[in-house]
Amino acid sequence: MALRTIRLEGDPVLYKTSRPVKEMTPRLRELIVDMLDTMYEASGVGLAAPQVGILKRIVTIDVGDGPIVLVNPEIVESSGEQVGDEGCLSVPGMAGQVTRPNYVKVKALDIHMDEVEYEGEGLLARAFCHELDHLEGKMYTDLVEGELHQVNYDEEEEEE
Ligand code: NI
Repeated sequence: MALRTIRLEGDPVLYKTSRPVKEMTPRLRELIVDMLDTMYEASGVGLAAPQVGILKRIVTIDVGDGPIVLVNPEIVESSGEQVGDEGCLSVPGMAGQVTRPNYVKVKALDIHMDEVEYEGEGLLARAFCHELDHLEGKMYTDLVEGELHQVNYDEEEEEE
């Protein structure tokens, strides 16, 4: 297991636009495996490549239904609205209220560069939006309504 260092809020790499993946290479496959390991180790539900310092359009997500790898993802449909707390591994221990669509359909490539499509509602829709924003250099903290607040992760886990 190779863990990568998660870059924290304020690190310039988090505010840059990531580049599309043109071809899958052994190095990028290793990056994806490392991103999954790093995400699980940090108990996160999503991680974007810029968060480990790599400006490539790659995202990993797992909201509890198994790992999702998105290469060059695009939101092709969204609807509805959800208001709820959101957090980010680059802003540890904090959360804030963000409004997102309640349904999101994403088109992407998988680790084999085959086309995939995912539909997400609720937390998965939120994760798609949040992680894809990272690829544009956008942090959720800019979308927070009201104030960021501290989170007790243990309590949150018990609620789920
Ligand atoms: Ni994040």
